[in-house]
Amino acid sequence: MAGRKRILSGMRPTGKLHLGHLVGALNKWVELQDEYQCFYMIADWHALMSEYENPKKMENYSYEAARDFIASGLDPNRCTIFIQSQVPQHLELAMIFSDITPLAWVERCPTYKEQLRELKGRELATYGFLGYPVLQAADIALYKANAVPVGIDQLPHIELTREIVRRFNTLYKNNIFPEPEPILTKASKLLGLDNRKMSKSYENFIALSDTPEIVTKKVSQMVTDPERIHVKDKGHPAVCTVFNYFTNFGEDAIREETKALCESAAMGCVQCKKNLAEILIRYLAPIREKRDKLTGSMIKEILREGRKEAADFASQTIDEVRSIVNLAR
Ligand code: TRP
Ligand code: SF4
Repeated sequence: MAGRKRILSGMRPTGKLHLGHLVGALNKWVELQDEYQCFYMIADWHALMSEYENPKKMENYSYEAARDFIASGLDPNRCTIFIQSQVPQHLELAMIFSDITPLAWVERCPTYKEQLRELKGRELATYGFLGYPVLQAADIALYKANAVPVGIDQLPHIELTREIVRRFNTLYKNNIFPEPEPILTKASKLLGLDNRKMSKSYENFIALSDTPEIVTKKVSQMVTDPERIHVKDKGHPAVCTVFNYFTNFGEDAIREETKALCESAAMGCVQCKKNLAEILIRYLAPIREKRDKLTGSMIKEILREGRKEAADFASQTIDEVRSIVNLAR
């Protein structure tokens, strides 16, 4: 299997994985498993940057993330699944990258500015948090990844990674690190159930582990077209959260039919939501089934194996890096 290009991607374990993770990342990760050699990482150090005040659930979230990865179709025989903090070489490379990264590069990072705005009131103007994208660059470069499947919000981090590895290669006159290309998912952005941004702090998502009853209840409470007050009013699917889900989950024919029935007021929102709930329940059923079959010890064994595979690769890279920058070995 040598010669395949490599991928690294990661997800922060900050709570239950939900439909947004699936359409925004996981489905793509699954698709890429054979074409590339894939390293899929549970980014617990990145999670700790925002969760450090209350990290009690972190370990559990990491295991549950692994469970959801596998239930969604990642196959530990065809990719490497591991927990970031169990491969300490990430920090060695992050340290060296932080030496060569100008302060201005991280200070101007739009995600940094946005997080500061969004999580205001919490003490997140930390040293570690400023270095968020530097650690991410190390995650990627450690596996000499050629490509990184990510959501559109992560593009500035991939761009910064490219700049950092270019700087490393130029400074030390070598080409150890490829400049990684982003691979974007085609999915349209999934909205939260209340039409706001999907976020764990709003609790406005459908988790991969939600039961059919919970899915039905959550869908029935979804926000629809605010101008459609009576059944006889014609609807506007383009502004309706329910329809946003049809765009991501329904078959084309069903989506077109829903659009037509909504715009002509031939179908009410209650029926429309029933249809959506059915689609989502059917979609989640195989995931739930796989999820329930995975025991805690199976997950731990898979992560142990993944840690070994990741560390093997990582320690080779670090050996090369130490020699390039002339650190004693
Ligand atoms: N920052 C990413 C996110 O919040 C998670 C992440 C950490 C990541 N390290 C990575 C993604 C490396 C891609 C590659 O989604
Ligand atoms: Fe939205 Fe469906 Fe109601 Fe139309 S019928 S407004 S798409 S919920």
